[in-house]
Amino acid sequence: RMSRKILVLPGDGIGPEITREAVKVLEACQERGLDVTVDEALVGGAAYDAHGEPLPETTLAKAKASDAILLGAVGGPKWDKIEDLAKRPEKGLLGLRKHLGLFGNLRPAILYPQLAEASSLKPEVVSGLDIMIVRELTGGIYFGQPRGIEERNGQRVGFNTYIYSEAEIERIGRVAFEMARKRNKKLCSVDKANVLEVTILWREIMERLAPEYPDVELSHMYVDNAAMQLVRAPKQFDVIVTGNMFGDILSDAAAMLTGSIGMLPSASLNESGQGMYEPCHGSAPDIAGQNLANPLATILSVAMMLRYSLDEPELAERIEGAVGKVLDDGLRTADIAYPGTRRVSTSEMGDAVLAAFRHV
Ligand code: NAD
Ligand code: IPM
Ligand code: MN
Repeated sequence: RMSRKILVLPGDGIGPEITREAVKVLEACQERGLDVTVDEALVGGAAYDAHGEPLPETTLAKAKASDAILLGAVGGPKWDKIEDLAKRPEKGLLGLRKHLGLFGNLRPAILYPQLAEASSLKPEVVSGLDIMIVRELTGGIYFGQPRGIEERNGQRVGFNTYIYSEAEIERIGRVAFEMARKRNKKLCSVDKANVLEVTILWREIMERLAPEYPDVELSHMYVDNAAMQLVRAPKQFDVIVTGNMFGDILSDAAAMLTGSIGMLPSASLNESGQGMYEPCHGSAPDIAGQNLANPLATILSVAMMLRYSLDEPELAERIEGAVGKVLDDGLRTADIAYPGTRRVSTSEMGDAVLAAFRHV
């Protein structure tokens, strides 16, 4: 078999700091026989500074040619003043998702038992938490046309279009039903079907798919209630499926249940199994460059890459086991620290995971 290609896109802010730690773990996988070549390229603000655009042609070409991509994070105050949205760092990320057709975004919110105390919710509310949020990633209001800011009747108006086709809803629905089938067979579709036509159609398509998955129990919930239920009784959920923007918001809320947004990895998959892997959090400008960020979401994203794009479940489990081990040992970056634990930096956390990985 030919060695597979991985592209690393560190991005901005804490991006380079956290991907550096994840790449260490990836290299340790190579030591254990993982046959991959690892390349690197610029995206986001870093690419804008070097080439005047957030997703240079060379980066996109490398991304298309790779089997899997590991991305840190993009964006930051330095680039928020760029007026042309198409040149903003975030557009680099959205462009990658769109050009590669990465419509299926998996965001698992799992509470490591060692972190029950780090969650802002009571331990009994979150202990044993294991939710999978399936977010549609290449459609909805993020990409709908028309969009813009223009002059109407003497004042400017801003507008976007929330649109989904039946085919787009059906394919993300299938990803979610299949996921539920492999888990606890409960799927909750989150919408705003009491107000928005686009989600009336969403609900209808989910219902249409249900008979094909008789082993999965489908339910529906309005997004406002879902936000409330996530903090009231999160363990009622198994798999959640929702559109692009609702999924963005709900996954950040779910992240906090696990102790920190620094714990939440993600996979973004297309129809051919190619994937981009990234933490759910952003570039954290407030702590960038200080060796403070939690690299575990990015390291756990490497585990997802091994599982979903590289067919190496044993290496994935080994990484997850190593993360469990360092948490057992009481090591904590600032975001998940509490009295009695040992504060470590980004690089110390990465080194500890690496040592545990080699050891388990
Ligand atoms: P953010 O996720 O970057 O930060 C929110 C808060 O969480 C901050 O206090 C930050 O310090 C903390 N945090 C985030 N990741 C952490 C980690 N690994 N360890 C410890 N603490 C962590 O969200 P924001 O502040 O709204 O956005 C900052 C920039 O990131 C913006 O430019 C935004 O567009 C961008 N962003 C990018 C991505 C991405 O690349 N996938 C995702 C979200 C936001
Ligand atoms: C995420 C981010 C992105 C999104 C931004 C940076 C475009 O918040 O990956 O969750 O909204 O999808
Ligand atoms: Mn987000």
